Amino acid sequence: MSRQLFVTTALPYANAPFHIGHMMEYIQADIWVRFQRMRGNTVHFVGADDAHGAPIMIAAEKAGQTPQEFVAAIAAGRQQYLDGFHIAFDHWHSTDSAENVELAQGIYRELRKRELISTQVIEQFFDPVKNMFLPDRYIKGECPSCGAKDQYGDSCEVCGAVYGPTQLKNPYSTLTGATPELRTSEHYFFQLSDARCVDFLRGWTAGRNRHGEPRLQPEVYAKTQEWLGEGAQASGKGLADWDISRDAPYFGIPIPDAPGKYFYVWLDAPVGYLASLKSYFDSGKAALRGEPRSFDAYVADPGVEQVHFIGKDIVYFHALFWPAMLHFAGRKVPDNLYVHGFITVSGEKMSKSRGTGISPLRYLELGMNAEWLRYYIAAKLNAHVEDIDFNPDDFVARVNSDLIGKYVNIASRAAGFIARRFDGKLRGGSEVDGATELQSLRGAADEIAQLYDGREYGKALRRIMELADGINAYVDREKPWDLAKDAARAEHLHVVCSVSLEAFRLLTLYLKPVLPQVSAQVESFLNLRPLVWHDARASLPDGHAIRPYAHLMQRVEAKQLDALFEPPATETPVALPGGVEVAPSITIDDFAKLDLRIAQVIDCGFIDGSDKLLRFTLDVGEGRHRNVFSGIKSAYQRPQDLIGRHVVLVANLAPRKMKFGVSEGMILSASHADEKNQPGIFLLDVDSGALPGMRVK
Ligand code: 2FM
Ligand code: ZN
Repeated sequence: MSRQLFVTTALPYANAPFHIGHMMEYIQADIWVRFQRMRGNTVHFVGADDAHGAPIMIAAEKAGQTPQEFVAAIAAGRQQYLDGFHIAFDHWHSTDSAENVELAQGIYRELRKRELISTQVIEQFFDPVKNMFLPDRYIKGECPSCGAKDQYGDSCEVCGAVYGPTQLKNPYSTLTGATPELRTSEHYFFQLSDARCVDFLRGWTAGRNRHGEPRLQPEVYAKTQEWLGEGAQASGKGLADWDISRDAPYFGIPIPDAPGKYFYVWLDAPVGYLASLKSYFDSGKAALRGEPRSFDAYVADPGVEQVHFIGKDIVYFHALFWPAMLHFAGRKVPDNLYVHGFITVSGEKMSKSRGTGISPLRYLELGMNAEWLRYYIAAKLNAHVEDIDFNPDDFVARVNSDLIGKYVNIASRAAGFIARRFDGKLRGGSEVDGATELQSLRGAADEIAQLYDGREYGKALRRIMELADGINAYVDREKPWDLAKDAARAEHLHVVCSVSLEAFRLLTLYLKPVLPQVSAQVESFLNLRPLVWHDARASLPDGHAIRPYAHLMQRVEAKQLDALFEPPATETPVALPGGVEVAPSITIDDFAKLDLRIAQVIDCGFIDGSDKLLRFTLDVGEGRHRNVFSGIKSAYQRPQDLIGRHVVLVANLAPRKMKFGVSEGMILSASHADEKNQPGIFLLDVDSGALPGMRVK
């Protein structure tokens, strides 16, 4: 029975670009989603920006923008990260959207009908200059216990005392410096302390999904019991009613029938999961994925499993508030929370807003391969709430030894013989299939599937590399390079290389959730349809023709890691090549600055949402492939026809961030000066014999 999965990652605040912590979560979820799809399961995978709240409102004001403009600018930067690291969200939306207003207000109305909403007048600090109630984080003052200055309103960093903001001595607003006044205001509460909520949450947190697996990881369950357990209620640590309202001015969703009151950002944030899903359905994209139903029908289907990937810092919201909101609004509740730890860099904790010393965008701009990072992170992940560390030396060692030394090597060792000696055709049949190495590879399919399904990626990859070791040992034993010297042993050479490449196909299949791009290149090299999990059972037919081998992945160099940790020399590189006037005249030295290279088109295709660009995967003879976008779609309506041909590339153009990803160079083509009236774009041609990487001068 195939599964129907609705998968989300935590919605990032729309006040900063992604940092490595975001990418870790997205990579974890993306691997899981890709794996589930390879199993034949249907997955809808969505994200969105978490747009509301006081910090974003205040940051927008500082930037001289409306919150909407501010959030839109952040949102516009998202795609390059997602494309760059091959994160295949089906849809990306915003909590500041019509869908979210409708859904959040609808859920609130249901909770009110169930008499789970109450009001209370509370006393809170008010900034008389800004004319607004101050969130606690904007209040500082002197510690009531030791007198230390400039302490936040919750605890003292000097003596460790814990207190409330109103206990601070000489409090001040960090926004204006003004002395805040205590004022009263009516707030709305979700009555989580109601026995119905406590009962429901006890059951939900202890529950299992339809596959009999616990809904929560053991350590997450234990955490929830600190709030829900019998002892917690008695000791006062139990669930309190949750303050869900904020007073104007606030960037948020208006509370129905409560003028001047807005939902606290954490009320509408998780509703954003549903809002994004709804927008995805309403846009017709779900239908394109073969989903016949409406959003309403889909979310009401008890057969759909709802899975949230989140970090350990937001368990409280996802394991208590969110399921309770959904349940008492008469909606389906989440089936699983998959909680991960944090990522440290060289042992250093990162700041939630600034991230760590490594920037994912810089990683891409340096031309580092996204799949190195996917692999490295995956190799460190398990199903527990453990922090993982990015260590540069470990990164270099792991990527080079596993991906290049163990995996890619298998193909490069065998492919040449098949091409030169056997007309590019593989040998099939019992002699190949009977190889014990292949049998153990095939036999591992279920075990590896279980590890992926259970998010034990580190174990899965260790198992896969063990199998790769077995194949490399086989090649070392059989010594195809010696067999090749002896004409009488040609048949055995054929078998050995065919076993190697069949093993490579299986290893690629197992690595595909982690390495989607290399897998696509391998599918093209081995002339295969996209690999799915049950292809592990099949084998290639005798005489199966493969294509010429193009190098699949470059080694990572230690100096690339050095560059990654160095702050960039200039803040904004990336100049656009478009719109440049033809310069008067240049010297030969000027010309020499241009590094023009022959590139071979490995892959070429359309881009969702672009009517001008084609996406190219190019071999420039560097041992890795480049991604280049070229605005020639109008003239080349059949991109697949371009695969295999040679083009001329400006190879040293600074990588350019585009909406769809990073473009690493520019393909040369000719067009008329008056493009409007005399359309037509003509790629430059190269005489036969030219090889990828040759310099053009
Ligand atoms: O902690 C955060 O970054 C929040 N923006 C996560 C929200 S997750 C969901 F509830 F939207
Ligand atoms: Zn103190």
